[in-house]
Amino acid sequence: MPSPTVALRDATTPLTADEAAAVLALAADAAADDGSQPLSEQFRLSVQARDDSGVQHLLATGTDGSLAGYAQSRAAADGAVSAELVVAPGARRRGVGTALLERLPDGIRLWSHASGAAADVATAFAAANGLEPVRSLHVMGRSLRSGPSWPAPTLPPAYAVRSFEPGRDEDAWLALNAAAFASHPEQGSWTRADLDLRTAEPWWDPAGLILVVDAENPDVLAASHWTKVDPPEGRVGEVYVVAVSPDRQGQGLGRAVTVLGLDHLRSLGLDRVELYVDEDNVAAVRTYTALGFEDVEVHRQFAR
Ligand SMILES: CC(C)(COP(=O)(O)OP(=O)(O)OC[C@H]1O[C@@H](n2cnc3c(N)ncnc32)[C@H](O)[C@@H]1OP(=O)(O)O)[C@@H](O)C(=O)NCCC(=O)NCCS
Repeated sequence: MPSPTVALRDATTPLTADEAAAVLALAADAAADDGSQPLSEQFRLSVQARDDSGVQHLLATGTDGSLAGYAQSRAAADGAVSAELVVAPGARRRGVGTALLERLPDGIRLWSHASGAAADVATAFAAANGLEPVRSLHVMGRSLRSGPSWPAPTLPPAYAVRSFEPGRDEDAWLALNAAAFASHPEQGSWTRADLDLRTAEPWWDPAGLILVVDAENPDVLAASHWTKVDPPEGRVGEVYVVAVSPDRQGQGLGRAVTVLGLDHLRSLGLDRVELYVDEDNVAAVRTYTALGFEDVEVHRQFAR
């Protein structure tokens, strides 16, 4: 089997618009075939924005010149480099995945966001390349129409609730996010550019980014719950990012702001809500379990 040609794109040779479009089309084909998105939101946004700041793109081209596979690597806040990799459904079992993996930096952590049978394929591929699971991300979900009811939100009187206001809250929200996720490898490092990429997405709705603020000074953010409905016409909402300022933790704000978001998603008439949570975030897993969320699937990160 002839090896594919693997080309590197980084700050010196950024992705062209045609290459970015071909990567997104390949990812869409894989999603349709596998029943799960191969690239997470952050990696997809970096392709779309043709982002080259600290990001490396690898393109594998088959003998016919078409795109056979794609990998992206990026440094996480904890210094580790994480990667995502996808091979076109028609080009699998020909060594394309292995060729991409060999060109990724040493010591990378490779994500698999696959579910069902595709997750077994990813695990077999990782094992064949000497990679073992090192971290798990749980996808949890619940019905918004039935199942255990959740409590009404109760907030101490020092707090008020309002929605995010574009032009007013960006810096304060980024500061809250950075403080709340200081030890999180990806979430805590969001910059204004990361925020702007998301507020330019078709699903962005400031009403879905709920803020718990200081009642005396409503520019001071104590907690937030960013809910998301993607695609906007879909039936499933997401608990996208829940953050509580570290100096306000332990007052019940996490549960209250989570519930405010669930109420919001239910008020939109949606059927279901899902979320992603790190397996070792015991406090968050407990909060969500108590609110009636159950495991849907597990995404794994592999490393040597
Ligand atoms: C996982 C994936 C990247 C593999 O790409 P690929 O180009 O088909 O992989 P390779 O041809 O390099 O396979 C290398 C080895 O992995 C194992 N493997 C790959 N696909 C497999 C499958 N369907 N069943 C069992 N083992 C498999 C085999 O040991 C294979 O060697 P072999 O073909 O000589 O038996 C591809 O299936 C894919 O894009 N899946 C969706 C995205 C995804 O899950 N990414 C995360 C990867 S951790």
